[in-house]
Amino acid sequence: MTTDKCIRAVVAGVGSCLPVRRVTNADLEKTVDTTSEWIAQRTGIHNRYIAGEGETTSTLATGAAAKALAAAGLTADAVDLIIVATATPDYTFPATATQVQAALGITRGAAFDLQAVCSGFVYAVTVAEKFIVTGSSTCALVIGAETFSRILDWNDRTTCVLFGDGAGAMVLQAAPGTGTIADRGVLTSHLRSDGRHREKLYVDGGPSATGTVGHLRMSGREVFRHAVGMVTDVMTDAFAATGLSADDLDWFVPHQANERIIDASAEKLGIDPAKIVKTVALHGNTSAASIPLALAAAVEDGRIKAGDLVMIEAMGGGFTWGAAIIRW
Ligand code: ACO
Repeated sequence: MTTDKCIRAVVAGVGSCLPVRRVTNADLEKTVDTTSEWIAQRTGIHNRYIAGEGETTSTLATGAAAKALAAAGLTADAVDLIIVATATPDYTFPATATQVQAALGITRGAAFDLQAVCSGFVYAVTVAEKFIVTGSSTCALVIGAETFSRILDWNDRTTCVLFGDGAGAMVLQAAPGTGTIADRGVLTSHLRSDGRHREKLYVDGGPSATGTVGHLRMSGREVFRHAVGMVTDVMTDAFAATGLSADDLDWFVPHQANERIIDASAEKLGIDPAKIVKTVALHGNTSAASIPLALAAAVEDGRIKAGDLVMIEAMGGGFTWGAAIIRW
């Protein structure tokens, strides 16, 4: 760590947006060969939100972005970069991010989508931070938004009960820093991927391979087997890069796929369970949206405050995985 002056990407505000329709485990029992107990015990999920007519990834992303800007006390004209992390764009093209840009009335800067499935938000924060610290952008909207309900096979009970729709957004602004871990902003981020794991979690359609949208396919047990090791490896990298430890964290905000994966990862690295932000019960697995939805919930209820040290991490299709430490 140096003490040279530097630019940091500092969180100015977060916001979230969920579809209108909430679907409980009991609701699913009526159409899927499952039980509330099975879902709750194996995953910790009790509810998820499912997009209805007129609700798309871009409308949810725009709603979350507007709230994040309001929380930051900024108007849309401050924004010069929009990154939407999504595996479920409105259309094959143009990018969902450009739809959000138009909906917010922004005509300058750059907007693009980023595809890293459930790790998408960690990837997008990392990319936005690079734009900001190199001076290419001064104010970024980083959004995770998904409508996984549209790529689920509702006849496959091993996957359809696990996922939900939603969006979360974060405003990252350039601010001067000292280059130490006392600075506010993104302090470190670490991304990984290994494409050999495709068959464990993928969608069986796409514009070039099949000309269809396809459905999500997953061997849950195989994903589970790799998840804890991968995320704790990259979290360890984040601690090593900053000299911080689990005890220094105020909050651990993991990807919300499965409560058992979250708890096992935290336990392996000695993170106090009281520091874990969990929204998996409320939202299910919302892929790239899960971390910003959880961040927004914890900021809104007063848990995460300015100056707090927050670790985010995720693992998803690819496989992709990553972790970042942010001083709020
Ligand atoms: N309702 C009732 N029973 C079910 C259901 C269901 N919805 N789904 C499966 N079962 C049954 C199975 O048929 C099986 O029955 P059997 O023993 O008679 O064969 C039994 O439950 C156990 O099935 P498993 O797959 O072994 O259950 P497991 O304990 O592994 O839990 C789960 C499954 C929840 C999917 C778990 O493996 C998991 O969470 N994996 C990780 C998934 C994950 O995190 N995915 C997101 C990654 S991020 C991304 O990029 C999308």
